[in-house]
Amino acid sequence: MQKKEYIKKMFAGISYRYDLLNYLLSLGQDRYWRRFAADKLPSGLILDICSGTGDVAVEVSKVSNKSQIIAADFCEEMLKLCAQKIKDKNIKNIYCIQNDAENLSFKDETFNGAIVAFGIRNVSDIKKALTEMNRVIKIGGEVVVLEFSQPENPILRSIYYFYFKKILPVIGALISKRTGPYSYLPSSVMAFPKRSEFVEIMKESGMKNIGFYCLTFGIVTVYTGIK
Ligand SMILES: C[S@@+](CC[C@H](N)C(=O)[O-])C[C@H]1O[C@@H](n2cnc3c(N)ncnc32)[C@H](O)[C@@H]1O
Repeated sequence: MQKKEYIKKMFAGISYRYDLLNYLLSLGQDRYWRRFAADKLPSGLILDICSGTGDVAVEVSKVSNKSQIIAADFCEEMLKLCAQKIKDKNIKNIYCIQNDAENLSFKDETFNGAIVAFGIRNVSDIKKALTEMNRVIKIGGEVVVLEFSQPENPILRSIYYFYFKKILPVIGALISKRTGPYSYLPSSVMAFPKRSEFVEIMKESGMKNIGFYCLTFGIVTVYTGIK
């Protein structure tokens, strides 16, 4: 099975437990990470790719209630939960659209900013997805990427590895009742480019003025770039 199909099926299978596991496995930090990333965006028309159940789109809407946000994902089951969440929270400025991050259906220079949270690690071709984000934002617009990373400090790194490789897959499997996804999570983080490598890919995708912020001992990183 191609990576794309595998990923789509995997998220469809864990969709109903996704939010709970995010909260538990990040020890409640995920909301702070998403808010920090959402804060880096300009206001206006914003695209959230790999939006999943829409948590980062919700944070963007809280940061600026004047913004209009498109929450895009290729997995129908995740998007359904996103639509339900928006309805339950009575949010009026988020619109859910099924879309492939590597082949966006939007015209060039449509958005003021684009964001991806914990999604870029899952796409088949990172550069293609970043190039698509850059293509659909206006000149001067901003791309924000929130993704897991590895702590620089060797002691913290070994504690993190132990939690991530040994404890997290067990809790994830117990709650989601599936073994694959929460073993895939640590291996995909380990295989993800290092910060300096990721900055290079952002440059190659057409962005400039690239910066990054390490949060929670470097467990996650927020990258920003301008078109
Ligand atoms: C780990 S979840 C992140 C969801 C959300 N952004 C968050 O912060 O919780 C990754 C999401 O990326 C989506 N995804 C992966 N590859 C994709 C692609 N090529 N196009 C669109 N969505 C994709 C999956 O369906 C899944 O919903």
